[in-house]
Amino acid sequence: MFLLATSSQSRGHWLWGHELEPLTGYFGEVYASWFDRLGPVVRMRGSLIHGDMLTVADPAIISHVLGKHAYDYPKSPILRPIFERTLGRGLAWAEGDEHKRMRALLNPVFSAEQTRGMFEDMKFCTDRMVAAFVAHVNTRGGDAIVQARDWTSRATLDIIGRVAFGHDFGCGESAEAKQICRVWIEMVDGGMTMGGRIAPLILRNFPFLLLFPIPAIRAQSAVRLTVQGLAEQLIAKAPKDPELIKGGDLLSTLMRANIREHMNISREELLDHICAFILLGHETTAGTLNFTLHALAQNPDLQDKLRREIVSFGAEPTYQDFQNKLPYLDVVVKEGLRMFPPGAHTERVAARDDILPLGKPLRTTSGKVLTSIRIKKGQLISIPTIAINRNNAVWGDGRTFRPERWLTPGGLPDPSESVKGWSQLLSFLDGPRMCIGYRVALLEFKIILSSLIKTFVFHDTGVKMEPAMSPILQPRIIGEKGSSLPLRVTLAEL
Ligand code: HEM
Repeated sequence: MFLLATSSQSRGHWLWGHELEPLTGYFGEVYASWFDRLGPVVRMRGSLIHGDMLTVADPAIISHVLGKHAYDYPKSPILRPIFERTLGRGLAWAEGDEHKRMRALLNPVFSAEQTRGMFEDMKFCTDRMVAAFVAHVNTRGGDAIVQARDWTSRATLDIIGRVAFGHDFGCGESAEAKQICRVWIEMVDGGMTMGGRIAPLILRNFPFLLLFPIPAIRAQSAVRLTVQGLAEQLIAKAPKDPELIKGGDLLSTLMRANIREHMNISREELLDHICAFILLGHETTAGTLNFTLHALAQNPDLQDKLRREIVSFGAEPTYQDFQNKLPYLDVVVKEGLRMFPPGAHTERVAARDDILPLGKPLRTTSGKVLTSIRIKKGQLISIPTIAINRNNAVWGDGRTFRPERWLTPGGLPDPSESVKGWSQLLSFLDGPRMCIGYRVALLEFKIILSSLIKTFVFHDTGVKMEPAMSPILQPRIIGEKGSSLPLRVTLAEL
């Protein structure tokens, strides 16, 4: 590897360069160990005939690429088709002026006020899931082994169905909910096989292969088509008169604005937005919740502390209480998002020749000191958010789940050393493409986590787990195939 900060060099695998290694084993650990050993900018060799790439943790480079110059660094040619197939041509796919237009259109539907209006729906869906979960545990004598996702994603799908387009997924029991979950799991499990890991590397080199009906590619489209079919029925049923569109959900709000303000948003675009909300808003929050429950199962003292805070609060927390009256819940959520960001890796490509600023000067392998890095149009920049969130050089014990760091004076990194995203993290990314749904995510995360911890005790099963990427962070039992996170659950004594 040719590295910008040390003298050690390794050429990587003869075929896959340095690209395959980070995809094997505990996802994020290879990048994090590179940052530990080699500093915050690492040049890695691409696979097959692809050129070198830069893997970065340097905050100045990240601010440059994701912030001020975000539109000069579009998503890479391998990432964009994945977003298109899975989510359609909505916000996450759009670039440049098209992205600015869509973002301006959608920002108001994700405002703080609009999110506050989702609170009752979130509570309702959470209570319904928890009631079904209690019944499940009771029928197993009050002590059950469960797959975390079977429960968390029921609540998150229900919530996003209601707040995005006024649809009731029936606590994950409706036929459509089951279909969405089935095609999602098929896609995730396909991506976790060796073929699924190598496919993006091959496609990066030979993008024309995207035209062939490869099963992993078909599975990505299947998720979108299922959700779109459902959203289509809802759009078709909607009244043409804006005054008659009553719902407070995102689709109704968009349709009203579309007609009233003559925005000419096409039916296809509306469908793509709804599809993106459902998929980005559902498995992301559920995924981080699952990993956080697992971390709490492994740290029973932290779990007890959280339960004590929630139980001693007494009343059912209101929207406002969730904002500022449950400090330990708040930091457990932050720590969960720091350690387990669902979008654990992203990549951008330079649309023009550019100069990347460096937070601190670097010494190259040839001994030269650099204060900036010159890059060429087409240069790929890899941003492993999970490893940046866990970087020991910034967080000290970056790989340890320790919510207390957020409460200890001086426990957080100096802001000049860390990235500038939400809470000094990259979990929601940063800049004009930062997650538009972060307020929704944080609120539902707190509501679901507090309800689960109040009602149940989560125990570690002793099974050895590791995160993998497909297409977001997934839990996997070491040595087994597919996504799985078993937890032992008993009822909490109140
Ligand atoms: C814990 C939960 C969530 C996390 C960690 C998360 C994280 C992210 C990240 C990292 C991105 C940027 C992806 C990239 O550009 O490479 C993103 C974009 C996006 N997210 Fe989220 N997300 C979460 C929940 C949600 C929810 C609940 C919604 C909607 C209801 C949502 C909607 C979106 C949309 C539409 C984008 C595209 C934004 C743009 O490109 O302008 N996300 N999210």
